[in-house]
Amino acid sequence: MARVGVAIDEDLLQEFDTSIERRGYANRSEAIRDLIRADLVNEAVQSPASEVVGMITLLYDHHVRSLHEKLTALQHGFHDVIVSTLHVHLDFDNCLEVIVVRGSSSDVQKIADRLISTKGVKHGRLVVTATGRGL
Ligand code: NI
Repeated sequence: MARVGVAIDEDLLQEFDTSIERRGYANRSEAIRDLIRADLVNEAVQSPASEVVGMITLLYDHHVRSLHEKLTALQHGFHDVIVSTLHVHLDFDNCLEVIVVRGSSSDVQKIADRLISTKGVKHGRLVVTATGRGL
C-alpha cells in the first residue's frame, strides 16, 4: 500500500466525511479507493475495444404482440455477447428481463441500445463494469 497526502478544502472534506459515514464506509481510505476504482472502470468503459461485463434490465409489456420473440431474436443475433438471461413474469401485464452480457464495450452498448429501443419496452438500463488489472 502506498500512502498519499492530498490537500482538500475543509468544507468539501466535511461533506465527503458525512456522505461516506451515511453510506457505511469504515474509513475515508476505503471510500477514496472506491472512487478511484469507479473512475478507472468508467474510463475503461469509454474505450470501445475494452472488455466489459454488464447487465441489461428490461421491463416490458407482456401483451405487446411478438415483442418477446423480437427481443429473443435480437439476443440470438448477439449470442456471443449474451451470457445468460433471466426472465421474470412480474405481474399479469409486465415481464422483467435481466441479461448478463460480456464483450467489447461497443458490442455491449450496441445490443443494449437495440433491446432498450425496441417498441414495447417500457424501461431499460445497462450497467457495466470492468474487472481491469489491479482494481
Ligand atoms: Ni413474462
